[in-house]
Amino acid sequence: MSTASYGYDGGDLEKPDQVLTVENLRKEFGALIATEDVSLAAERGSITGLIGPNGAGKSTLFKLISGFYEPDAGSVTLNGTDITGWSPDRIARRGMTRTFQTPRRIEGMTVRENMLVGPQNQAGESILSTMFRPGRVTRDERANLERAADLLELFELDHLADEPATDLSGGQFKLLELARAMMVEPDVLLLDEPVAGVNPALAEDLATYIERLNRERELTIFIIEHDIDFIMELADPIVVLDQGRVLTEGSPETVRTDDRVMEAYLGGGGES
Ligand SMILES: Nc1ncnc2c1ncn2[C@@H]1O[C@H](COP(=O)(O)OP(=O)(O)OP(=O)(O)O)[C@@H](O)[C@H]1O
Ligand SMILES: [Mg+2]
Repeated sequence: MSTASYGYDGGDLEKPDQVLTVENLRKEFGALIATEDVSLAAERGSITGLIGPNGAGKSTLFKLISGFYEPDAGSVTLNGTDITGWSPDRIARRGMTRTFQTPRRIEGMTVRENMLVGPQNQAGESILSTMFRPGRVTRDERANLERAADLLELFELDHLADEPATDLSGGQFKLLELARAMMVEPDVLLLDEPVAGVNPALAEDLATYIERLNRERELTIFIIEHDIDFIMELADPIVVLDQGRVLTEGSPETVRTDDRVMEAYLGGGGES
């Protein structure tokens, strides 16, 4: 068995065109229904946007899809495999990972070390204790180090590799999160507000990187973002979530001109 293989391991089955399908997904928190009967699909190689007012259930949906929450009902299918109830780690190894709306900074770690803690682990892990022990660097670890170096170069963070990650600006840290997510060589990347709080110039940079990853690596991207202009420029189709349900979906133009979308934002946004 090859332990270095992070990618799709479904044998010679042909990959379906819908890399990700979500059916009738439901999640309750006590009396609150955060997502209710959500069904959607992402085409391979697409950039799908997910928008909706605060509290609409967008982050919850991502957590359900990526295994951080277990759904109360419904299913998630990745590359034709039912992954409902799988752990985030197992899902990442199968080709789908996410970034966090509010990435946590791990104290005492360099940028390079941040790249190596694993896609789903925000706490810092044992890998660091063994990583630099002389003579104990395994082939997998060496491969990971090389991949980290390549990605840091791609995202133009290589000059910061040995700096404490806590020294990065908010924008650079978002970039690092994106680079780190790419460590598992995903087929599908879920981005939860990647440019929130980032200055406009860096937001532009991030958009360029996201487009490049999508184009050059056939990466399917599913992205939540409140900046409507940003997401309409980047994503097609766009899914609108409101009160835990899919309100509508379609091209940016269709969504922009749908009165119900504006109403949802006025109704939902006003309360929070
Ligand atoms: N772990 C939790 N426990 C209880 N309620 C939760 C939990 N996570 C989310 N919720 C509630 O579920 C609803 C949906 O939250 P969610 O974070 O998915 O919204 P969102 O669309 O991502 O909002 P935002 O745009 O503000 O990030 C909200 O009412 C929220 O308070
Ligand atoms: Mg959210």
